[in-house]
Amino acid sequence: MSTTPLKVAVTGAAGQIGYSLLFRLASGALGDRPIELRLLEIEPALKALEGVVMELDDCAFPLLSGVEIGADPTKIFDGVNLALLVGARPRGPGMERGDLLSANGAIFTAQGKALNEVAADDVRIGVTGNPANTNALIAMTNAVDIPNERFSALTRLDHNRAISQLATKTGASVNDIRKMTIWGNHSATQYPDLFHAEIAGKNAAEVVNDQAWVEEFFIPTVAKRGAAIIDARGASSAASAASATCNAARDWLNGTPADDWVSMAVVSDGSYGVPEGLISSFPVTTKDGDWKIVQGLEISEFSRGRIDASVAELADEKAAVTELGLI
Ligand code: NAD
Ligand code: LMR
Repeated sequence: MSTTPLKVAVTGAAGQIGYSLLFRLASGALGDRPIELRLLEIEPALKALEGVVMELDDCAFPLLSGVEIGADPTKIFDGVNLALLVGARPRGPGMERGDLLSANGAIFTAQGKALNEVAADDVRIGVTGNPANTNALIAMTNAVDIPNERFSALTRLDHNRAISQLATKTGASVNDIRKMTIWGNHSATQYPDLFHAEIAGKNAAEVVNDQAWVEEFFIPTVAKRGAAIIDARGASSAASAASATCNAARDWLNGTPADDWVSMAVVSDGSYGVPEGLISSFPVTTKDGDWKIVQGLEISEFSRGRIDASVAELADEKAAVTELGLI
């Protein structure tokens, strides 16, 4: 394990997710390597961010080698190996993700350009801020020299939600569930697919043996969980989103186990009929900081329709941000 600190940028660091994420990162969520945090916020939030940094100091985290804060992305992203783009306006009650496209799109053009200019050559960029897939597309398109494969959007929270629902239904431990898949957009059209998942080595759909539950409960519960949390908390998910952001970054950098895969929204190469260039969620394996889409899965007619619907939404979002001149 390298003793050179991993430089990790977090945007929106004074926000809800930041308040959970920073402490997880600093306490070793990515592994034993020391880390340096580079925290980006807008000017009005810098004072609050100073308070968060005071708390980070007060934890005396052994792995935290330094913290820098600021509002200029070209300073904060300088030399970063990992950029976690969280900062964006969250959805409020009654809002759909489409409403966020124009509000948040501009943030990701500027940040894509800044990363292109100053990030380390090995940078990996994970987008949590919504609409995550399309924000990642905007950042990727504006970072012309960074390979497209270095961008991903977060669907790990959906993946974790799906595992949790399946565990509750079957009485299994989450530790026994493998090969869950989220396809498409991090939105209500996403398709959580348990047909390839396994519970203690057995096919999950066969263990569940209840298609009505899959269609009427499992899929909508996972897909609409974000809205259910907003409804209950009056604010969007934060600790679970931070946890999933850590899980996704750790697995991307350190690799997935041989008997499992994870869900990540990555640039499509045309696999499974998803148009090339869209950032869509797939089952992926990772090794040494690179990901590969799992190939050869059989897609039933039921699954096909759901994947196509979510991918159509991604194509619409792409058309909308093209129209807005963001890509
Ligand atoms: P929040 O409003 O609490 O925090 C967002 C922070 O971003 C604020 O502090 C704001 O000042 C900052 N910010 C705004 N513009 C910025 C910019 N240009 N540069 C740097 N920082 C900027 O929101 P939150 O609850 O922490 O959520 C953040 C985002 O994550 C939202 O878009 C939310 O919808 C999204 N989210 C995604 C997932 C997922 O699974 N992908 C899950 C939960 C939330
Ligand atoms: C979530 O999935 O919890 C977030 O993306 C918040 C939202 O707007 O749904």
